[in-house]
Amino acid sequence: MSVTNYTMASKIEVQPVTGGIGAEISGVDISQVLAEETVADIRQVLLDHLVIFFRDQEITPKQQLAFVSRFGEPDIYPFVKGLDDYPEITPILKLPEETVNFGGIWHSDTVYQPNPPMGTVLYAKELPPAGGDTLFANQYQAYETLSAPLRAFLDGLTAINSAAKGSAAATRSDRVADGGTGLAAEVMEAEHPVVRTHPETGRKALYVNTGHTVRFGGMTEAESTPILDYLYRHQIQPEFSCRFIWRPGSLAFWDNRCAQHYPVNDYHGHTRLLHRVTLKGDKPF
Ligand code: SIN
Repeated sequence: MSVTNYTMASKIEVQPVTGGIGAEISGVDISQVLAEETVADIRQVLLDHLVIFFRDQEITPKQQLAFVSRFGEPDIYPFVKGLDDYPEITPILKLPEETVNFGGIWHSDTVYQPNPPMGTVLYAKELPPAGGDTLFANQYQAYETLSAPLRAFLDGLTAINSAAKGSAAATRSDRVADGGTGLAAEVMEAEHPVVRTHPETGRKALYVNTGHTVRFGGMTEAESTPILDYLYRHQIQPEFSCRFIWRPGSLAFWDNRCAQHYPVNDYHGHTRLLHRVTLKGDKPF
């Protein structure tokens, strides 16, 4: 969608970053209390582009929470302790001596919960001199570009999503060790439709991900894996994706119901710190 498609009631400007996903919003200072029409416009851009980006924002944790709260109810991340004064804000931190990054695999956030978050807002505090970008992929497109017979097969299926899936669990082990909330990953598992209908847009999106999906409901892992492996490759292709290069003061807000993300781990020896808030979501259908 091009910027000319928009008639915004507010003064925000919208610049799509690729043909598939992502738009940068300018002309707004999110440290301020935003007018209703500005919030409505930002929400519409999020629904249209799946992930939105803001640059050069100077916000405190309190202001980040105030901004995020205009779009929903902040949630608590189950595994890593939040800031002392703001438990809804999770510090996403990789230190110079660490090699594993948080969430370092393609995923949608915490789909092992019965009601996974509708969205996530990440604000950049400290960044490596280069690297540490985040990739995003459009799961409407991932679904719509499958063949009709495969779409029909997937439409009727559910998938089991687990917090204990090894590849994803490893990406948060350091932070759980020194600041965890004591929850056991093994108990966090949820069954959701493989194709979910977005509650606001009514569009269908592919809702499996390599980080958390273990198998299809009613099928064994051996039966599920070949098809899931195909879907994991298909759903992240360049035509459906964008790459966000962070700068201090950048903020990204993505829709977990129809987008996946992948933080690139290419900055060993440097610190990267972002503040993350998730927004409560509803039960996928
Ligand atoms: C996350 O998965 O929430 C972290 C994303 C990032 O660090 O870029």
